[in-house]
Order: sequence, then C-alpha cells, then structure tokens
Amino acid sequence: MSDAVFQVRELAVSYGAARVIENVNVDVAAGEIVGVVGPNGAGKTTTLRAISGLVARRRGSVMLNGVTLAERPEAVARAGIAHVPEGRGLIPSLTVHQNLRLAAIGAGRRLSDEDVRYATTVFPAIERLMDRRAGFLSGGEQQMVAISRGLVARPTILMVDELSLGLAPRIVKDMSRALRRVAGERRIGIFLVDQNVRGLSHVCDRIYVLQDGVSSVANKEDTELMRAVYFGRSG
Ligand SMILES: Nc1ncnc2c1ncn2[C@@H]1O[C@H](COP(=O)(O)OP(=O)(O)O)[C@@H](O)[C@H]1O
Ligand SMILES: [Mg+2]
Repeated sequence: MSDAVFQVRELAVSYGAARVIENVNVDVAAGEIVGVVGPNGAGKTTTLRAISGLVARRRGSVMLNGVTLAERPEAVARAGIAHVPEGRGLIPSLTVHQNLRLAAIGAGRRLSDEDVRYATTVFPAIERLMDRRAGFLSGGEQQMVAISRGLVARPTILMVDELSLGLAPRIVKDMSRALRRVAGERRIGIFLVDQNVRGLSHVCDRIYVLQDGVSSVANKEDTELMRAVYFGRSG
C-alpha cells in the first residue's frame, strides 16, 4: 500500500536455532486499524517485540514515515511507535497518573493536562482512578490505562498485543470503539495482534494472517481461513 506510514519488511526472528517468524510484511496507513491474527505461539508477540527492538532480528526492516528505524527500544518509542505489551505492562505499585507520566517520559515528552484530558475523554472510566494504584484495577481498567499510556506518547503508530485477552466481550467492544475513535480523531495508525479472530475482524480495516512464520493478507469474509486460524491449523 503506497500511503502506508508504517512498513514492516521481511521481518525474521530466531530464538537460538528455532525460527519463529520467517517473513512478516505489514503496512499501516494513518488512521487505519490493521490486525495480525494467528494461533497461540504463531509469533505475534515476537513480531511486535522485534519491531520495538526488544528482540534481535535475523532479517528485516521497519520504516516509519519513510525512515528506517534503529533496533533500539528508546529510538523506536521516540520515533513515534507506542507498544502496549501482552500483559499490559503497567507498574502495579504506581498510580494510574504516575504510570501515564512514565509513559510520556519514555516517549521523550512531559505529560500535559491535555494528555490526561484526552485519555479520560476516550476512556471516561479512568478519570476517577487517577490516584489509584494500577495493580488494584480490574483487567478492563488496566487495559484502558495501558492504551492511555500509549496515547500520551502521542504516537504515529499504536501497537497493542492481545487487546481482548481476559476481557468480557462487552469491554472488548468498548475498547474497539475507543480505538476506532482514536484512529479517526488523531489519525493514529493502529496495529493489533490477537488470537481472537472474531473480535479483531470486527474492529480492523484490514487483516493479515500469520501462519508458519509468514504473514499474508487475509480476506475477513473468508470464514474457512478464519476458522483455520482460530483452531490453529495451518494450510
Ligand atoms: N524468549 C524466547 N525464547 C525462546 N523461545 C521463545 C521466546 N519467546 C517466545 N518463544 C517461542 O516463540 C514462539 C512464538 O511465541 P510468541 O511470539 O509469543 O507467539 P504468540 O504471541 O503468537 O502466541 C513460541 O513457540 C514461543 O514458545
Ligand atoms: Mg502473544
């Protein structure tokens, strides 16, 4: 896609002798929501970690606005890629507000009132939780804070690993609506990786399937393929 602001090309990662991802290619345009689906163990988390510079690549490149990114987490974050990790990555002993402040610092910014205002506009439920310790929040609340941490970084691309994991369908729906709003209002490109094929196909504009270490463009209406991914069969 020619209007992609974010381009992952020929990404490959091995852990020792084990080849986990072999050839992953992803494009995301501004304001677009793009997903990668694949069964447990397919290499989705590895893909995001390789993009963020948290694991070494064997091959491949990541470009943001036409610039190739260095493989260092601080460089990737400061260039404008926010990564909401699997497990959400909050510091449980710190308050919500402190978690947001740290996220802004990680992106080379200072948390502003406007940042907090925008996060609480997107997720009204967290407004009253600002002084609560993150570790005491519910799973849904933690996911809202985790995504808010991404937003206060003012990213060009927001990557979320397993948005729906452990959350009730109603909360996943709210979360999807919030991401759609963010993509529209802020023109952030959103990149989701998830095992939950059905949930993802609802929120995404486009979907890739990750099978046998290789990404391919998927047709969301191809229910046979989606079933195969869901049940972890390849081919
Ligand atoms: N740090 C690691 N060292 C060795 N193997 C790993 C490591 N992290 C993940 N793996 C393996 O790589 C494969 C892909 O894992 P992962 O990227 O977490 O998949 P997914 O997120 O799609 O479930 C799995 O077989 C997993 O066991
Ligand atoms: Mg994973």
